[in-house]
Amino acid sequence: MTVRVGLLGAGTVGAGTFAVLARNADEIARRAGRAIQIVRIADLDLDRAARVADGRAEVTTDASAIVDAPDIDVVVELIGGYDIARTLVMRAIAAGKHVVTANKALLAVHGNAIFAAAHERGVMVAFEAAVAGGIPIIKALREGLAANRIEWIAGIINGTTNFILSEMRSRGLPFAEVLAQAQQLGYAEADPTFDIDGIDAAHKATIMAAIAFGTPMRFESAHIEGIRHLDAKDIRFAEQLGYRIKLLGIARRRERNGLPLGFELRVHPTLIPSSRLLASVEGAMNAVWVHGDAVGHTMFYGKGAGAEPTASAVVADLVDVTRTLTADPDHRVPHLAFQPDALSDLPVLPIGDIESGYYLRMAVADQPGVLADVTRIVAQRGISIGSVLQPEPGAGENSTDVVLLTHRALERDVDEAIAAIEALPTVLGPVVRLRMEDLS
Ligand code: HSE
Repeated sequence: MTVRVGLLGAGTVGAGTFAVLARNADEIARRAGRAIQIVRIADLDLDRAARVADGRAEVTTDASAIVDAPDIDVVVELIGGYDIARTLVMRAIAAGKHVVTANKALLAVHGNAIFAAAHERGVMVAFEAAVAGGIPIIKALREGLAANRIEWIAGIINGTTNFILSEMRSRGLPFAEVLAQAQQLGYAEADPTFDIDGIDAAHKATIMAAIAFGTPMRFESAHIEGIRHLDAKDIRFAEQLGYRIKLLGIARRRERNGLPLGFELRVHPTLIPSSRLLASVEGAMNAVWVHGDAVGHTMFYGKGAGAEPTASAVVADLVDVTRTLTADPDHRVPHLAFQPDALSDLPVLPIGDIESGYYLRMAVADQPGVLADVTRIVAQRGISIGSVLQPEPGAGENSTDVVLLTHRALERDVDEAIAAIEALPTVLGPVVRLRMEDLS
């Protein structure tokens, strides 16, 4: 019997999902064991829904009618946002429907309640499309890497910011100019806040951390910095030192004396060596680097957004849901990869407790002894310096930039060093601090 799907949201991904399901219907039925068909589409814009359906599905403006309909087996939620989506997803679960969603914000913020409700009701909530679009990273972390103790993840998981950073580097342009171009080209939203302030990447990093470490979603504890204040000068200096700057979502397990301490969960512009594969991920592409104790390093690369790449993940979830529709819920892959009664309470470490390399740039008076004062402050806190860059001052200038790259250090110690450096009369203005990961 055909699996009957109700689609909520007829935007870009909704249209892509309808198209892929229709185009590859035979292949999909051979894989799933049953045909899968979108039979009803809800969108506030009825014309838009009708264009997607093209006479092959019923259309409505009433999403709750689909969620409640007894003849719908699976609800695909592609509305996005927190509130309406949450209400509809919870109502679908209560009505005994399985849910497929691409909504990273919803899961990162309300996922714990949603998965608890789904477990209680014995239904699936599948979310491959929520992280890195078409890249099957959820499947990889949850199933393909199930043998491993996953040590850390570092991902370029926001295409808009990766496009902006790539353009800033290759064309030497300032952030605001590239953002305006990205908006004109349709890469960035009219309100690009979630992308450029790192929130979208933090939603995705939160979800990956939960399924990698077997913890609840901890979005509220994530440390989030975007690229809004990144200076093109730092991209240039980083390049001279052999690094590229990427907005990374990082989740890293930490131990002390062999005992679990917690995990780092952070999104921020990060220097990575130009020779790493991740540094070559340019434009709007996404990639996720995962280190497992058994497998070692792995990297997953592909399109993180767009109609059909994201539909690829939505439809894969529909196939997965279809295959186990009649299975005992206990025999399905657990939502968060680990059994719900075996989740860990491993905390997210405060940002002061993270360990990273650091890039510190400061403007200093061009006179003897300044560098010695700065390096003494750093050394006094046990922080080791890897490289120093001091570009020639412009003609007639009596100040110059100095850049230090440190080895791994505790962020709290680096903060103390920065405060002491900024108090030096020869240091002119605030120190620019960026984090650095060598991904080895
Ligand atoms: N806005 C996201 C990006 C895609 O730029 O990657 C959807 O998460």
